[in-house]
Amino acid sequence: MGRIAYVNGRFVRHAQAAVHIEDRGYQFSDGIYEVWAVFGGELADPAGHFTRLARSLGELRIPAPMSDAALRIVLAETVRKNRISNGLVYLQVTRGVAPRDHPFPDPPPPPAIVVTAKAVDPIAAERRAANGAAVVTLPENRWGRCDIKTIGLLPNVLAKQAAREAGAVEAWFVDDLGLVTEGASSNAWIVDADGFLRTRDIQANILRGVTRDSLLSLIGELGLAVDQRAFTPQEAKSAKEAFITGAGTLVLPIVKIDGAIVGDGSPGPVAKRLRALYIHNARREGV
Ligand code: PDD
Repeated sequence: MGRIAYVNGRFVRHAQAAVHIEDRGYQFSDGIYEVWAVFGGELADPAGHFTRLARSLGELRIPAPMSDAALRIVLAETVRKNRISNGLVYLQVTRGVAPRDHPFPDPPPPPAIVVTAKAVDPIAAERRAANGAAVVTLPENRWGRCDIKTIGLLPNVLAKQAAREAGAVEAWFVDDLGLVTEGASSNAWIVDADGFLRTRDIQANILRGVTRDSLLSLIGELGLAVDQRAFTPQEAKSAKEAFITGAGTLVLPIVKIDGAIVGDGSPGPVAKRLRALYIHNARREGV
C-alpha cells in the first residue's frame, strides 16, 4: 500500500490514517467504492468510473463529497504523492459519522471519503496473464442490487477465500437458473463453441463493469461477434476460451474452471488480443 492516504479533506501518512468508530461504513457497510487502474500515472477509463460513482451515490442517496473536478485532483494527487506508475486507486465514500441507528441520520452528516493507492508490478501481472488463471463456481448468495458498487462485500470475501483455498484467483457466482452472473470482483466472459464472445447482460443482477463496457466498445471496433447472453458453468468449461475483466485484473485469461481445463489449457488468442488492446488503449487515453 502507498504511504499517503486522503482522508476527509487531508493527505495523511498511511500508517496514521483513520476513520471514526461511528462511521456508517464501518457499522453498516453504508457506503460505496470505486477502483481505477493506473497506467503510467494516469487513471484508466476515468469517465466510466465517475459515471458509475455518481450512480452508486445516487442510488443510496449519499451526497457527492465534492465535485468531479475536485475529486479528479484528489485522485491524481494520491497517485502522485505515492509515486504510482502502474497500480490501483481506491476511493470509498460512506454516509458519514452518526450515532448508530439504522435509518439515515437527520440532519445528514457530511459523507466520509477515503482515497488510497497501491502499486502493481506490471511484470508479475503479465506473467499471471501469460499463464492464465483458475476460477471456481459457487452459488449466488448476494443481495438483489449488485448494480450498486457498495462496500458490503461479505459474500464476495467468502467466495474469494473459497477460490483461494481451491487454488483459484476468482469465484464465479451461479444463479438459481444455473447461469453464471459474474465474478466476486470481476465480470465473466467466454468465447463459446461457436466463436461468440459471451458475457452476462446488464439486466441481470451484476455490476456494470467499466472494463466490460470499454471492452465491448473495443470488440465492436474490431468487428468481433458478441452476444450478451448468459452461459452455464458447463458451457464455460467446454468453451474455446474464458476470461475475466475488471480494474484489478484488466483482461485475465481463465484456463481452468472447477478443475476442468478450458480449451487447450493455455490463454486463448482472443483473450490475449483483447488484453493487449485494452492496455494499449488505457495507456493512450489516461485522464
Ligand atoms: N471490482 N463485478 C464485481 C462484483 C466487481 O467487484 C468488479 C470490480 C467488477 C468489474 O468492474 P470494473 O471493470 O468496473 O472494475 C465486476 C473491483 C476491481 C474491486 O472490488 O476491487
